Amino acid sequence: MLTATRYFGLGLVIGMTIAFLCLSLSHLTIPVGPGHKKSMSQGIISEVSHAFIKHQVDNQPQVHLDLGEDKHHHHDDDTVARELKDKVRVLVWVMTSPQNLQKKAQIVKDTWGRRCNKIIFFSSETNKDFPTVGLNVSEGREHLTAKTMQGFRYIYEHHFNDADWFMKADDDTYVIIENLRYFLSEQNTSHPIYFGHHFKVIVKQGYYSGGGGYVLSREALRRLATKGKDPRLCRQDGGAEDAELGHCMEKLGVATANSTDALGRSRFHCFDPETHLFGGYPDWYYSYDANGAKKGPEHISDYAISFHYVPPQKMLSLEYYIYHLQPYGISSGKQDLNRHDRKS
Ligand SMILES: *[C@@H]1O[C@H](CO)[C@@H](O)[C@H](O)[C@H]1NC(C)=O
Ligand SMILES: *[C@@H]1O[C@H](CO)[C@@H](O)[C@H](O)[C@H]1NC(C)=O
Ligand SMILES: *[C@@H]1O[C@H](CO)[C@@H](O)[C@H](O)[C@H]1NC(C)=O
Repeated sequence: MLTATRYFGLGLVIGMTIAFLCLSLSHLTIPVGPGHKKSMSQGIISEVSHAFIKHQVDNQPQVHLDLGEDKHHHHDDDTVARELKDKVRVLVWVMTSPQNLQKKAQIVKDTWGRRCNKIIFFSSETNKDFPTVGLNVSEGREHLTAKTMQGFRYIYEHHFNDADWFMKADDDTYVIIENLRYFLSEQNTSHPIYFGHHFKVIVKQGYYSGGGGYVLSREALRRLATKGKDPRLCRQDGGAEDAELGHCMEKLGVATANSTDALGRSRFHCFDPETHLFGGYPDWYYSYDANGAKKGPEHISDYAISFHYVPPQKMLSLEYYIYHLQPYGISSGKQDLNRHDRKS
């Protein structure tokens, strides 16, 4: 009975959304690249479906799932992951907003956020209970650049010694922290370098998708938070956040780099797992993606690090698939893709 009502409700929402999209086609603009707007006339199907996904992400009912105290099988042997946690310390800061705190940020905190060495939530308002750090900026897409600049500066000033690597993620990003540490264990944090889902346009050396998350070395963070204050080098607000950061990093001498695995498979992802598995990319993606906009499991690293546009319920599902569900009698083999395969 409850289920039927829910399906009816969902149908109604979908129907109304489609009706809304059809009615407003003539003047609707939707984001096509992070922060970039384009009129509806180009790539209409993929862009509508993209906007539809975003709508679904933003309008899900609040969900809860008790994944247990440790959210981990007690019989799992996690020795390697635990050792790496001390060697490769990762601080993640998550950009959220007051209205998303309970619905989205709380789920991040309850799932993958627990595995970071440190996680800090930024919003436009300080909330001592959650807690969130209030940034001195107004909410809204047009101030994302200011949020990012201030966020990194705050991390540098307050937490520079708490971690070896510093990642920025959104409240609809899902991060497999163990795989992030594994990848970073082969990198040198004293180098001016950063990693993420690589776009090859706008900035000469390319830049990283904001939603797929990107991770800065200590040297990259130091440069961004010091020299990066100079408005002649780095824009302090406005523009598209991820592309602006890309320009800024290039001017600071912080390099982009290839983060694919030894088989050339992607680790950071600017869409959700289904989109990278089955395709259905928006048109802009084919010219943006630095690695050929491939789709399918053979092009996604078994040690994938991040996915974007993951609504709260899917975040809980991913948590369940990755950390709970097990095929009995099969234990995953050691695929040391960083060390051996790359050098051979
Ligand atoms: C915002 O400004 C206040 C007062 O100037 C300051 O205490 C606080 O640290 C600032 N927040 C951030 C994140 O920089
Ligand atoms: C990391 O890079 C720094 C600076 O280039 C260098 O001094 C150091 O030896 C490197 N560390 C490793 C483990 O390669
Ligand atoms: C990254 O490396 C893979 C092979 O390992 C290659 O196929 C891909 O084109 C490279 N990407 C970039 C942006 O250089």
